[in-house]
Amino acid sequence: MIIRPRRLRKSQAIRNLTAETRLNPSMLIYPVFVREGKNILEDIPAMPGQKRYSPDKLPIILERAAKNKIGGILLFGIPEHKDEIASSAYDDNGVIQQAIKISKREFPELVIIGDVCMCEYTSHGHCGLIKNGEVDNDTTLEVLAKIALSQAQAGADIVAPSDMMDGHTQAIRSKLDANNLTDTLICSYAVKYASAFYGPFREAAGSAPAFGDRKTYQMDPRNSREAIKEAILDVNEGSDIIIVKPGLPYLDVLKTVKENVNVPVASYSVSGEYSMMKAASLNGWLDEKKVMSEAAISMTRAGADILITYYALELAEFMLNGEL
Ligand code: PBG
Repeated sequence: MIIRPRRLRKSQAIRNLTAETRLNPSMLIYPVFVREGKNILEDIPAMPGQKRYSPDKLPIILERAAKNKIGGILLFGIPEHKDEIASSAYDDNGVIQQAIKISKREFPELVIIGDVCMCEYTSHGHCGLIKNGEVDNDTTLEVLAKIALSQAQAGADIVAPSDMMDGHTQAIRSKLDANNLTDTLICSYAVKYASAFYGPFREAAGSAPAFGDRKTYQMDPRNSREAIKEAILDVNEGSDIIIVKPGLPYLDVLKTVKENVNVPVASYSVSGEYSMMKAASLNGWLDEKKVMSEAAISMTRAGADILITYYALELAEFMLNGEL
């Protein structure tokens, strides 16, 4: 035998030397839920280990993120006041705007990303304006652009539209540029499926739709070529980074998208993926550290340049310790 694949697996040192996939804390984005109010630090029952923070309490977790050299923080706002038109989403003193300002003031070096969507801010829980019982695409674009603008003006480095409206990147790009915010990046959720894996997030953010579902705007899980169409559209409209979401159940899509675009691609390991790994680990059925590491490796191997994960802080710690 001339070729013996096992030679490359001989020791940890040889495996490290020849590994095809390498991870670094700077590729990690940590999603954080910010709830309007003061002095709030509350557990999220469906996501043990994750919390909702009021803006004043945010520095606690940002400090850990900065210490672990995380690549960025993705902020989700949970407002006191919800209405039909998501008005608190573009309030310059809204919860997410406050959170962005505090984050940039306390940790100017940390990349701060604002999630741009309406579902946490609407009384009906949908990601857009409702017209005749349907989510109306084109009037929603104006609201999304206003939300993105107010986040960018609050100091967000990146805005991340997660609404899945057609033309969202273009609407946001023109609004930002018209307001001299040409340097604010857009990281769009270009490829986002209508997934049951978002369940725990909707509990965390109080954003479950009050009627119907999101299938008229989020993608059908049966489609993969359509992902290329969505990805290319957003890139052509000016997305600097695109997201494929969820993560693990859509590795094939991630790989296909990566091969078809020339911008950085992020994989979002969503709430349901976190909750599955967490629940099985709490039951003693899985080794949490090993499964979260393997999941992160898998998404990277499939082509992710950036990983958005609720395990970001732990993963970064392992990477800094040389354990991953
Ligand atoms: C808002 C949004 C959702 C997620 C990110 N942005 C929920 C949804 O589309 O219902 C899901 C994130 C997660 O599950 O971790 N539109």
